[in-house]
This record gives sequence, C-alpha cells and structure tokens, in this order.
Amino acid sequence: MIPYGEVIHDHSRHPRNVGSLDAPDIRREGYNPFCGDRVRIELALAPDGTVRDARFQGDLCVIAKAAASVLTELVIGLPIEGARDLPEERLLEALRAEIQPARRKCALLAFETLQSGIKESGR
Ligand code: FES
Repeated sequence: MIPYGEVIHDHSRHPRNVGSLDAPDIRREGYNPFCGDRVRIELALAPDGTVRDARFQGDLCVIAKAAASVLTELVIGLPIEGARDLPEERLLEALRAEIQPARRKCALLAFETLQSGIKESGR
C-alpha cells in the first residue's frame, strides 16, 4: 500500500528541484516548530519577473518533501505575482491525497515559506 497516494510517494522518493541556486532572487528558510522540519526554498527570476528556476532543500518528512517538490514544479514558469498569489488549495489539489488536518501545516511548510520569502522581497 502506498500511503498518501502516488504523487506524494513519487515526489518524496524522487524529489524534483532539490539543491540551491547560485544567485537566487528570493531565498527563505522555514521551520515547523511542531515537528521540527526545516526547509529552504529559492527562486531565480527572469528579467520580466517570471520564475525561471526554483530549488528547495531541507530536513523534511514524506509529505513536506513531496509538497516542496510539487511546489517548485508549480511555480516555475509563473509570473512572480502568480507564484505569490497561488492559492494553497492549488498545491493541496496537486498532491492528490487526503491530507489530514493535523498534517496540513506539514504539507504547506514550503508553500508558506515561499509566500513569506516573496512578500519579504517586496514583489
Ligand atoms: Fe514534516 Fe510536520 S512532520 S512538516
């Protein structure tokens, strides 16, 4: 049996866009004090403000890692405003799994970290 479904299984075992960028335009670290998971997420922007690349790295559980990986795929190619205004439901839907309320914060760790990083950058 695959807990949480295919997408989370796949992205937790084979996470996309792991690592760091040479010169990110946005970089933010996030921490979930309830579980101790940590994430760093970075974006590089094209001159027109499109998200050119994204990376994440962290000490993450299965759900948080898969969600960070899916998030990077969702935001690459979006205008920065689109990444900033991405509804959290869009990420939760993309995970295609029933996330228990107690794990929702885990699934949204990278998302909330990215939102903070974009807001902090003033974009
Ligand atoms: Fe991983 Fe909560 S257990 S973020």
